[in-house]
Amino acid sequence: MRICSGWRRFLIFLPILFILSHLLYVFELHPEAVENRSRKENKKSDHLVLGPAAGQGFPNRLQCQGYQALNKTHVQTSSFPSNLGVGVSFVTVFTIYNSSVGVHAESRSSNLVTVGSASYTKTERSLAILNVYINFIQVAMPRSNVVILTDPASDLSIHRNNVSVYPVKGEYSRDNLMLQRIRSYIAFLDIKLKDLVKEPGRITHYIFTDSDIAVVGDLGHMFRDYPNFHLALTFRNNKGQPLNSGFIAVRGTRDGIFRSKIFLEKVLQVYSSKYMTASRMLGDQLALAWVVRSHPAFDSGRFSKSRAFQEDIDGASVLFLPCATHNWTPPEGAGQFHGMPLDVKVVHFKGSRKRLMLESWNFFNSSSTVSVSDMLCLVLMSGRTKYDF
Ligand SMILES: *[C@@H]1O[C@H](CO)[C@@H](O)[C@H](O)[C@H]1NC(C)=O
Ligand SMILES: *[C@@H]1O[C@H](CO)[C@@H](O)[C@H](O)[C@H]1NC(C)=O
Ligand SMILES: *[C@@H]1O[C@H](CO)[C@@H](O)[C@H](O)[C@H]1NC(C)=O
Ligand SMILES: *[C@@H]1O[C@H](CO)[C@@H](O)[C@H](O)[C@H]1NC(C)=O
Ligand SMILES: *[C@@H]1O[C@H](CO)[C@@H](O)[C@H](O)[C@H]1NC(C)=O
Repeated sequence: MRICSGWRRFLIFLPILFILSHLLYVFELHPEAVENRSRKENKKSDHLVLGPAAGQGFPNRLQCQGYQALNKTHVQTSSFPSNLGVGVSFVTVFTIYNSSVGVHAESRSSNLVTVGSASYTKTERSLAILNVYINFIQVAMPRSNVVILTDPASDLSIHRNNVSVYPVKGEYSRDNLMLQRIRSYIAFLDIKLKDLVKEPGRITHYIFTDSDIAVVGDLGHMFRDYPNFHLALTFRNNKGQPLNSGFIAVRGTRDGIFRSKIFLEKVLQVYSSKYMTASRMLGDQLALAWVVRSHPAFDSGRFSKSRAFQEDIDGASVLFLPCATHNWTPPEGAGQFHGMPLDVKVVHFKGSRKRLMLESWNFFNSSSTVSVSDMLCLVLMSGRTKYDF
C-alpha cells in the first residue's frame, strides 16, 4: 500500500505537470493567448504568427528580407509571349445551403472569426475563401475563366466577371461531397465533350481545383511545355497518399477530355467499391493512388523525386507534376521544410491554413507596392502556424 500511495500521489501530480507544461508552452508561443485560455481552441491562432522564412541560402528557393522578396517568382522563362490564361478555365465544386446561411441559423457572435477588418460566420468564411480563390486567379491569369459547379438546390449566387455558376445534379451532403465532386467533374467533362462536337476548334483547357488554393503563376504554360498529356495530377513523397486530389488539369482537346473522363470514371468506381468506408475526406485520394499504382508498369519510386514525369494509365497519358511547384502547401508543425521553389505556381491553404489565405490576399491587396513574391514571403514565414479556420 505504501508503494501504491506514492504512485498514486504521482498519478495525481501528473495532470498538474501536464497542465503546467502546457501553459508554459502556450505562454512561450503566444503570450497574449494565455489570457484567453478558457477558450476551446487556444492553441490555434486567430492572428498571423510569423516565424523565420525557410529555405534561406538555398539556390532556387525564394529569399526574403522580412516581407520583402529578394527574388521574383514566376519569371517568364518561355520565349512565347504570355497569354496569361487564354483558353484556360478553372473549375471548382462549391455549395451553400439556406439552412446554413444567414444570421438566423447561426448565432453570429459565437462562431465569428475576424480577419483584418471583416468578421465572418462559418458560411461567410467559405464564401470569402471562394472569392479570394477567384481574386488570385484573376491576378495571375487575367484571361482565364472560373466555373463553379454546384448543387442545383444550393443558394449560391456569385456576380463577378468571368465567373459562371453551373448547377450539376447530385448528392452534395457533407459525407458524400468528395464522391459527388468526382461525379460532378465527370458530368461537366461530358457536357464539354458534347460542346466540342458542336463547336470544334474552340479549345479550352480545364483545371479542376479545391477552392482553398491561390494561383500565383501562369498555369497555361503547362499545356505547351508538355504537349502530349491528357490529364495532369500533382504528387508528393507520401507513401499512403502520394497524389493530391486538389489539382487535376485536363487538356481541352476531344481526346484529352474523353480520356480524362474515362480515367475519372475508373477513380469513381474504385472509390465506390473500395474506399466508401475511408474517412470522408480521403477516399478520392486513395482511389486516385490505387488506379495509378494498379498499372503494372508504374514505378512508385518516382514519387520520391521532385521531378515531373509522364505515364500511360489505362489509355490516358497522365502528367505527374510535383506538389512543390503545382500544389505547394505551407507545412504545419516541425517537419523538414526547405522553403518555397521560385517557380511555384499554386499555393494550397489546406485545413486550418485557410485564415492565411485571406490574410495573404489582404496583404497583397493592401498596397500596389506589394508584389506576389512579397506575399509569398508572408506565406513562407507564417505557414507553420495552426490557425483558427
Ligand atoms: C482575448 O479575448 C479578448 C476578449 O474576447 C479579446 O479582446 C482579445 O483580443 C483576445 N486576445 C487574443 C490574443 O485573442
Ligand atoms: C535570389 O536572390 C538572392 C538574394 O538577392 C540571390 O543571391 C540569388 O541569386 C537569387 N536567386 C535567383 C535564382 O535569382
Ligand atoms: C472577362 O470579363 C470581361 C468583362 O465582362 C470581358 O470583357 C472579358 O472578355 C472576359 N474575359 C474572358 C476571358 O472571358
Ligand atoms: C432557400 O430560401 C429561399 C427563400 O428564402 C426559398 O425560395 C428557396 O426555396 C430555399 N431553397 C431551398 C433549397 O430550401
Ligand atoms: C482591394 O482593396 C481595395 C481598397 O484598397 C478595395 O476597394 C478592393 O475591394 C479590394 N479588392 C478585393 C478584390 O478585395
